[in-house]
Amino acid sequence: MILECNNLHKSFSQGGNVINVLKGASLSLEEKDTLAIVGKSGSGKSTLLSILSGIESVDSGKISFLDKDITHYSQQEMTELRAKSIGVVFQQFHLIEHLSALENVMLPLEIINEPDAKEKAMSLLVSVGLGERANHFPNQLSGGEKQRVAIARAMSNRPKLILADEPSGSLDEDTGTTIMNLLFDLVEKENMGLILVTHELQLAARCKKSLLLSHGHLEAGTN
Ligand SMILES: Nc1ncnc2c1ncn2[C@@H]1O[C@H](COP(=O)(O)OP(=O)(O)OP(=O)(O)O)[C@@H](O)[C@H]1O
Ligand SMILES: [Mg+2]
Repeated sequence: MILECNNLHKSFSQGGNVINVLKGASLSLEEKDTLAIVGKSGSGKSTLLSILSGIESVDSGKISFLDKDITHYSQQEMTELRAKSIGVVFQQFHLIEHLSALENVMLPLEIINEPDAKEKAMSLLVSVGLGERANHFPNQLSGGEKQRVAIARAMSNRPKLILADEPSGSLDEDTGTTIMNLLFDLVEKENMGLILVTHELQLAARCKKSLLLSHGHLEAGTN
């Protein structure tokens, strides 16, 4: 099992109000699994992905990654786990502004001391159609180009799990299909797992499984 989480709870306190975002969410993911999470705006999809990637803490529940309990990992342990085994595509991309597209994709590879970081990053940029943009900085890229750099970066260290928040949200239909094909092929070829959040029903339908996040729970979807 790549990922298993049970009974996750998460609340935020804001100006005296408590927002209960997750109220017992559970899911599991095996090798080659592709899981779509759908749900209304504000239902907690990004919060769930932040928790699964260890960027946000969880109030209660249990998270296992590769059959190891990581619920109480420290920030440092989670940072190391992400560097080695988890690729994240954030809804707002979170590219590093003072690094070029190429350097952004190289970053995870440099953290794991990959000797061919530059060549590998370049070939990923080419595969997402951005070979000509390698030396551009994020503020010189369009929204969809930034999104493709973020996807290339998430794939670069060949993680065991990719968590992608609306990964085709800024792409036109053709480019979105091409890039999603790349992601799905990689998951299949490298025995990875993919969880993606999407509002696009067509993309959700391409995933092996889908779950609807509603009222803090994950409910079985249509596939
Ligand atoms: N750090 C925070 N502090 C307080 N409230 C938060 C915080 N992060 C998220 N929330 C609230 O939690 C709820 C879920 O937010 P989240 O971003 O997870 O939704 P979402 O399903 O990803 O929405 P969208 O489809 O619009 O991206 C929202 O009501 C949001 O206002
Ligand atoms: Mg979101």
